[in-house]
Amino acid sequence: MNTIKHKINNIEFDIKCPELNENIPDLYNKLEIDGYSHWRPCANMIEDVINITKPNRILEIGFFLGSSCFQWLYLSNAEVSSCDPIYCKDDDIHSKIHNIHIDKPRSFLTINNLCRTFRDRFKFLLMDSIALNRYISANYFDLLFVDGCHDYHHIKKDIELAIHFNIKYVLLDDFQKDVYNCYFDNFSDKFEIICGYQTKNSGNLIDNLLLKNKNA
Ligand SMILES: C[S@@+](CC[C@H](N)C(=O)[O-])C[C@H]1O[C@@H](n2cnc3c(N)ncnc32)[C@H](O)[C@@H]1O
Repeated sequence: MNTIKHKINNIEFDIKCPELNENIPDLYNKLEIDGYSHWRPCANMIEDVINITKPNRILEIGFFLGSSCFQWLYLSNAEVSSCDPIYCKDDDIHSKIHNIHIDKPRSFLTINNLCRTFRDRFKFLLMDSIALNRYISANYFDLLFVDGCHDYHHIKKDIELAIHFNIKYVLLDDFQKDVYNCYFDNFSDKFEIICGYQTKNSGNLIDNLLLKNKNA
């Protein structure tokens, strides 16, 4: 994997540029998995994150059409809980920019298919991530993937879950704009940067950022 050295605010870390993964599993096509973090650009990053964090239980915020969730399940042995209210708020700028249209029947079909395929390893939580604190307990999850509502307020709440529930690793999607500001305004002293990933050919220097909770 190509790596670029990078420095922000005197913090030096690696940005990894995974190659496209052309070994798309038959199951991915058979289950008609779709979404934002597609297999080809993201599978090598997800595999790398799994190798670094060795998770037993993963919490994902933002299911959409299941592409990242499928990869967490397929590439690890972890239990994966994914949370999504299956709607986008009108003011979710990220959803507008990326033209994310929620297709409820498709999302629910994929949720059903993942339940049947991965059985006890997959749990779906139909809710806004703001409500998650009523349903999860401390020391349960070891990796949190933040890819829900991308506004500052939600991202802050989502990252705070890792503090309240003692989650050791956090992977932030779309490390730019609100996500970037939110991390440096509130969390850079609490979470150390392990590495960044450039995955989506989006022109962004960093698409995803992997963090370690200093207190967990
Ligand atoms: C960028 S997409 C997620 C992409 C998905 N991880 C993938 O790989 O395709 C954002 C998703 O977050 C969900 N979402 C928006 N606000 C949310 C919230 N407050 N809590 C949880 N999920 C939310 C949306 O319904 C949408 O499905």
